[in-house]
Amino acid sequence: AVLRGVPRDLAGRRVVVSAGGTREAIDPVRFIGNRSSGLQGYSLARTAVARGAEVTVIAANVALPDPAGAKVVRVESTAELREAVLSASDGADAVVMAAAVADFRPVARSDSKIKKTSGEPEPIHLAENPDILAELGARRAAEGQGPSVIVGFAAETDNVLANGRDKLARKGCDLLVVNQVGEGLAFGRPDNAATILSADGASAYVPLGPKDDLSDAVWSLVSARL
Ligand code: CTP
Ligand code: CA
Repeated sequence: AVLRGVPRDLAGRRVVVSAGGTREAIDPVRFIGNRSSGLQGYSLARTAVARGAEVTVIAANVALPDPAGAKVVRVESTAELREAVLSASDGADAVVMAAAVADFRPVARSDSKIKKTSGEPEPIHLAENPDILAELGARRAAEGQGPSVIVGFAAETDNVLANGRDKLARKGCDLLVVNQVGEGLAFGRPDNAATILSADGASAYVPLGPKDDLSDAVWSLVSARL
């Protein structure tokens, strides 16, 4: 069925989209974070709603109006994102990890604001965060159940396609959307260009255009795998 030219190919499907970027607190006023506006994630949510899906967005520090028709769960840190994504993914048909996840968090969080002192500043010791996408893939492989389609996003500055292929295999996802970042590309902009790599070896280039075009290309590939 088609509604105003939009395919309703996700009708009856439950999808989860993570959006934005996680923040890891250093002290009450500072954090380690990622440059991600949440535009691509919210675009994925809106376009999935338009195609008939029941959509849960896990929003990490997104300062945008809620995507109409989607359930929005707000999180700040990677630990919170992980809990929310894993819980929403239970019984979901597809999970798209568009969020930029902080790879590291400070080992210790100061309860009071760190003050300037004379001399050398104290180093911030970091610990590695769990990899949510890899965990989704590994759980599905181990348990033989889970979302039918798992999609990752990767922003790369160099060796974009080779790094993307590597990441797709490493994380056990079905599709990986890889785009080149740097020099004013992608972040906070309304348009995006990307290559969507499939686990079966196929790849689809989506030329520079509105983020909704990239979202629709992702959902078409997801829908074909459901
Ligand atoms: N991701 C995740 N959990 C993490 C890090 C990343 O779920 N701790 C997900 C992102 O949401 C994205 C994909 O993995 O969908 C790729 O993220 P990226 O940062 O490119 O991958 P990394 O494995 O962290 O590699 P890099 O060293 O390039 O940062
Ligand atoms: Ca990373």
